[in-house]
Amino acid sequence: MPFPAERPRRLRASPAMRALTRETVLRPDDLVMPLFVRPGRGVRRPIASMPGQFQLSCDELVKDVGELAAAGVPAVMLFGIPGRKDARASGAYARDGIIQTAARRLKDRHPGVLIMADLCFCEYTDHGHCGVTRRDGSIDNDATLELAAKTAVSQAAAGCDVIAPSGMMDGQVAAIRAALDAAGRAETPILAYAVKYASAFYGPFREAAESPPKFGDRATHQMDPANIREALREAGLDAAEGADMLMVKPALPYLDVVRAVRERFSLPLAAYCVSGEYAMLKAAGGRGWIDEKRAALEALTSMRRAGADFVLTYHALEAARWLA
Ligand code: PBG
Repeated sequence: MPFPAERPRRLRASPAMRALTRETVLRPDDLVMPLFVRPGRGVRRPIASMPGQFQLSCDELVKDVGELAAAGVPAVMLFGIPGRKDARASGAYARDGIIQTAARRLKDRHPGVLIMADLCFCEYTDHGHCGVTRRDGSIDNDATLELAAKTAVSQAAAGCDVIAPSGMMDGQVAAIRAALDAAGRAETPILAYAVKYASAFYGPFREAAESPPKFGDRATHQMDPANIREALREAGLDAAEGADMLMVKPALPYLDVVRAVRERFSLPLAAYCVSGEYAMLKAAGGRGWIDEKRAALEALTSMRRAGADFVLTYHALEAARWLA
């Protein structure tokens, strides 16, 4: 009988040994909770395709952020659903816009929680596209940059701690950096959605944010899921334009991309575990087909192992409590 010379199982024999030799840790500190805010009072509207997630009015948002803070989650990413949409996305940069109002309330009530503001126009335009459109329906990149610059300054002035442009317009990081600096906001960091794929996994989000495009799709600005060299090019551009942190989105189907970006860039890196990833876990978990808690923690740990410093996830509150 030949005996194995190498016995890796020695290091798996007890919980203490496994704890000692664990390579990757997932902590509440590594999580960011995306939240949807809408006008009104006492509004807590369930999102059908994302069980456990809601569109919240500001007063309800304050309560949920309190729970997140108590669970040790350091940051939230705000998405706004404006009362009114128009062709110029004016709700995105209005002084009393939904994100601006929410940010002021949160800064007042939970000053220790980091407020990240998603910066895109699909929730604010009546046509549902991520920017200003021309007569033929195509997106006018450079006209959109002007609105992005205005929006970033308005979000920062309202108390948003981190500006997170997600529209995949060329030059958006440079435009936002220049505008923030000119407005005396040189200290406000930018988290660039540098590598964002045209993904079917955003399906539930578009219900949540009421932002599906009325015509066409997002394939002219979001990336082809087949591409990884292009991801490195996008990350390189955003880093050169002054991004303080980079993001890859979605997460689970793109762990190779997370790893590749991690290896080439020294900036902090985020992975966004998107709505469809959450919906899959909730759907299978809810039917008893998988153990939701174990599967969710396993998926989030895999994102950290692939090289993400932090993860945006709709499981943030539950995961933080599971990890406590
Ligand atoms: C754009 C934006 C989207 C998501 C985050 N920011 C939707 C899109 O690009 O269509 C998707 C997030 C998710 O699916 O959880 N504002």
